[in-house]
Amino acid sequence: MLPIDLRGKRAFIAGVADDGGFGFAIAKAFAEAGASICVGTWPPAMGIFEGLLERGKIADSLKLSDGSSMSFERIYPLDAAYDTMDDVPQEIREHKRYKERGDFTIAGVKARFIEEFGPQPLDIVVHSLANGPEVKHALIDTSRKGYLAAVSVSAYSNLAMVREFGPLMRPGGNFMSLSFLAGERAVPGYGGGMSAAKAALESDTRTLSWEASRRWNVRVNTISAGPYASRAASAIGFIDTMLRYYKENTPLVREMEASDVGYAAAFLASPLAAGITGTTLYVDNGYHAMAMATSPAALHQ
Ligand SMILES: NC(=O)c1ccc[n+]([C@@H]2O[C@H](COP(=O)([O-])OP(=O)(O)OC[C@H]3O[C@@H](n4cnc5c(N)ncnc54)[C@H](O)[C@@H]3O)[C@@H](O)[C@H]2O)c1
Repeated sequence: MLPIDLRGKRAFIAGVADDGGFGFAIAKAFAEAGASICVGTWPPAMGIFEGLLERGKIADSLKLSDGSSMSFERIYPLDAAYDTMDDVPQEIREHKRYKERGDFTIAGVKARFIEEFGPQPLDIVVHSLANGPEVKHALIDTSRKGYLAAVSVSAYSNLAMVREFGPLMRPGGNFMSLSFLAGERAVPGYGGGMSAAKAALESDTRTLSWEASRRWNVRVNTISAGPYASRAASAIGFIDTMLRYYKENTPLVREMEASDVGYAAAFLASPLAAGITGTTLYVDNGYHAMAMATSPAALHQ
């Protein structure tokens, strides 16, 4: 037996606010492998997430295969648009969803980890968040502000997290993020600069793999996931078309599950992947390998 054993490891997964996305599936796979799980939740979504947990609304999703329930060691507020509180505009500081949350910036979460667990408390950090305020605009119609906001939250924040959390990582630690094929090929409808953000994320993965290894002896990878109807993906507006199209045109004829990404992340996080860094790992039923659609009519069904 070749196990994925993450016992004794602590993971921080940024971008979990419900049980319907990749961050949650990754948390669950890590928990199945024995890791302890801390998550970072966007303050505007945090009250709803806490409510779901408190009222037992996602109790079924939290169930692990041994019958126990996944629990979160910490749920930290995190707005990845901000590196320090100096960057936060007054109206955000005073907003009702933010003002009781303390320091919700990347530096704030780092400080909480050190305060609560000591100077080197982490083994795995996952960036599973994205936001493009103009994602429904064609790229060509995207404003400078919208484009920069997409790249700031969806790509820059990953490198800021590597820089800030790198010194907190124990030996053998690793970082990973979530990308999408639109960073490499045109996906009409995935607008607002989000394609550029994913291209930046993948390019930064390569450069950071070198820099972060030399500084902290950690690995940096990204998973390019196929489409999945998470809350974020559903908000883009054409996820059903994407799912239908992939179903018709991927080499593997099967539904993509969030757990596919969770298990791949658990492998990447484990010592079994000790030699893998700087990589974009495709978990997309093989779609990235295709150059010709077999069923363009699927789009119009
Ligand atoms: N669902 C897909 O089809 C798909 C495909 C490929 C890649 N991805 C990527 O997977 C990652 C996770 O997305 P998902 O689809 O699982 O959806 P999701 O809704 O589960 O996750 C996105 C999370 O980002 C959080 N977020 C938004 N703005 C934030 C901010 N400023 N600071 C902190 N958190 C913020 C949201 O609250 C949410 O929890 C994203 O990077 C996404 O681009 C998704």
